[in-house]
Amino acid sequence: MATIVLGVAGSVAAYRAADLARDFIRAGHTVRVCLTESAQQFVTPALFEALTGQPCLEDVFDEPETGRMAHIDWARQADALVIAPATARILNTLATGEGHDMLSALALAYDGPIVIAPAMNPTMLANPVTQRSIQALEERGAVMVAPTVGLVACGEEGQGKLAANRDILSTTLAILEAKSRWKGRRILITSGPTQEKIDDVRFLSNRSSGKMGAALAKAALLRGAEVTVVTGPTSVALPARAQVIRVTSANEMLAACLNEIKNVDWFIGAAAVADYRPSQPRTGKLRRSNESLQIELVPNPDIIATLAADADPNQRFIAFAAEPSDDPQVANEKRMRKRVHAIAVNDISRSDIGFETSENELTLLSSAETMTSGKRSKLACALWLFDSLDALDRDGRLVTDLA
Ligand code: C5P
Repeated sequence: MATIVLGVAGSVAAYRAADLARDFIRAGHTVRVCLTESAQQFVTPALFEALTGQPCLEDVFDEPETGRMAHIDWARQADALVIAPATARILNTLATGEGHDMLSALALAYDGPIVIAPAMNPTMLANPVTQRSIQALEERGAVMVAPTVGLVACGEEGQGKLAANRDILSTTLAILEAKSRWKGRRILITSGPTQEKIDDVRFLSNRSSGKMGAALAKAALLRGAEVTVVTGPTSVALPARAQVIRVTSANEMLAACLNEIKNVDWFIGAAAVADYRPSQPRTGKLRRSNESLQIELVPNPDIIATLAADADPNQRFIAFAAEPSDDPQVANEKRMRKRVHAIAVNDISRSDIGFETSENELTLLSSAETMTSGKRSKLACALWLFDSLDALDRDGRLVTDLA
């Protein structure tokens, strides 16, 4: 069963964290509690130690096991970090990445799923600083369990009451369940553009930023899978826990994928692979002249189609398609031609999603059904994609069909 680290911040609702800890234990999980300094004004470490049978962290220098830095040790062992109640202070601290107390240091050292249940005065919650912090944390993958509306401890009416424990519990359990299904699955993701050499200083490429591939890698890790990313040239940061293989051209990307494909269960082709490359890249630098210049282009290999043609029946192949319209017919033909299990389409005629932007809207086409993510951050799209693929696969509905 899972290990849940429960972070408790200094809100009047801190008393409800005791019941929440018991709910997690009743669901069969180990709970370790970390209290902020102000939480200790409302509840005591002794209470949580008695309830959980585990030491409680109170101070950034606490070290229940000598020689093991607790903020690192607990972060490594946590399957989920739940912060309930979360005050405006801890939200703003987590958003800016300070690590001055045990809970924020632990959160910095932790890259798994985080569930946050804010509780505070309605004006503090509505404050643009708090709202920006909530948004920043959501963009990094944290799941908010929104506070409810009612009479809060300070006597005001409004949104700010800690969500019901059952909602915090069910959100956390759903994440842990998804994690247990993806755990041990190995995923190979292609990402970013490719560059096809014209001469030593010029190349053909495209506008792919690699943001969607990075979001897929992060989402796959959040869901508990093992991730390898083969990426074309991009400056986007990839998660530390992903194995990253950097390539330049489509041919290099294919070679790297061929090396890895036998070791993986899923292949997700999110790279914008150049369709053509110059047939004879020059050494040195092509000189300018007043004559027109012809560069002959030859087709690149279709990486995903090459790999899918030789697939093991247990492997799953998912393609991406950047389409200039939302007509599903073209993408569906592509899905069948490439013999992939599903294809995630985004409409590149829109400027608010897709290339270079931080948001996307995916339509997932499989032989079973068509699903849409709605417009969301690329990370939220990626999490939606893994959850949708898992649901289809669980029901035996993720199958290829021939063109
Ligand atoms: O054919 P099209 O480029 O539209 O297909 C897009 C899908 O195919 C993406 O998943 C992309 O990563 C993959 N692809 C590929 N090799 C190519 C071209 C596209 O793997 N040469």
